Amino acid sequence: MSTDLITELKPTKSAPLYGFWYPATTSTALAVGQMQTQVMLGQPILVCRDRQGKVAAMRDICPHRGMPLSFGHFDGERVECAYHGWQFDTGGRCRHIPALVEGSPLQPEKIGITSYPCQDQDGYVWVFLPDPQQPKQPVPELPRLPLPSEPYRMIQISTILDCTIDDGIVGLMDPAHGPFVHQSSWWRTKASMHDKAKTFEPIPNGFRMVPHAPSKNSGPYKLLNRLYGGPLTTTIDFVLPNQRFEFVQCGSMYVSSRATVTPVGEQQCRIDFAAAWNILPWLPFAKPLFRYFANIFMKQDKQAMERQAVGLKYKPALMLIDDADTPAKWYYKLKAAHLAAVQTGRPLDHPLKDRVTLRWRS
Ligand code: FES
Ligand SMILES: [Fe+2]
Repeated sequence: MSTDLITELKPTKSAPLYGFWYPATTSTALAVGQMQTQVMLGQPILVCRDRQGKVAAMRDICPHRGMPLSFGHFDGERVECAYHGWQFDTGGRCRHIPALVEGSPLQPEKIGITSYPCQDQDGYVWVFLPDPQQPKQPVPELPRLPLPSEPYRMIQISTILDCTIDDGIVGLMDPAHGPFVHQSSWWRTKASMHDKAKTFEPIPNGFRMVPHAPSKNSGPYKLLNRLYGGPLTTTIDFVLPNQRFEFVQCGSMYVSSRATVTPVGEQQCRIDFAAAWNILPWLPFAKPLFRYFANIFMKQDKQAMERQAVGLKYKPALMLIDDADTPAKWYYKLKAAHLAAVQTGRPLDHPLKDRVTLRWRS
């Protein structure tokens, strides 16, 4: 068995990745005519929704004297700075400077704020944060949550984690913490731990745990199997920079979820979890129920990662063991490969060349 010291991978440790889409807020939290500020990748970002319902994003800093625009006013068309009343359209272009006298040579429209591509999709307002090292990078398509059919129900939950982006992401893909962190009589217990063998394959910018029958030791899956008669399969994808998709399918029934970890600052990130499903359409209160259980899970992960962060402050050397921590190794390698590809302009040298089966107990 080989072990890798995480410290060997230091160069990319916790660097946020630019050139990707990140969720800023939920679609419902940004009503028509509203604006909201979010710090993402250490940058203050203002998102707003105009009168037509279109979303837009710009840097939340007034180019005049640095006042965050979010302290100002948005009328559904223009953002007005709270300090000297400069007005900007949703593209970040300055449209009015109240202090100018008529005939002034200064043209407000020559002044602009950095604006970002912004999209409303799958229940979130997404912002594309470009990579300054790749000024010509075309804006990639936003990865979609697989939603094979309508109608479906959907929930979103979110929490802030006080840990680095890498620790947050590794916590998300770690298969061995389940029986310890998410221990419960209805989900799984330590006694139900057993050998697992899962096959992974490379996908663009990530890797996939290929469709397999879900864990026999988890109660809800057992129930689904009984209700819908199987075959029940789960597919789990990780894609850079921060997305974990889990797709559970049984014929035309599905539960599709995505978790993203977005860096806020160096020592803080935000987990956003969205799940959509068309199973149990007759079940009353399905959304609050699902939200309740998803929140329990998220709180358990949050507590584990925040407790870990107490130890990580002392910068201990860490280990990644085979095979339970192999996905975490791939994540670090994938991230390094992405950064190298940006540097050299060559295609990404994917760390996973072929299908491989990992074995662990959980
Ligand atoms: S700082 Fe915004 S208008 Fe002056
Ligand atoms: Fe977890």
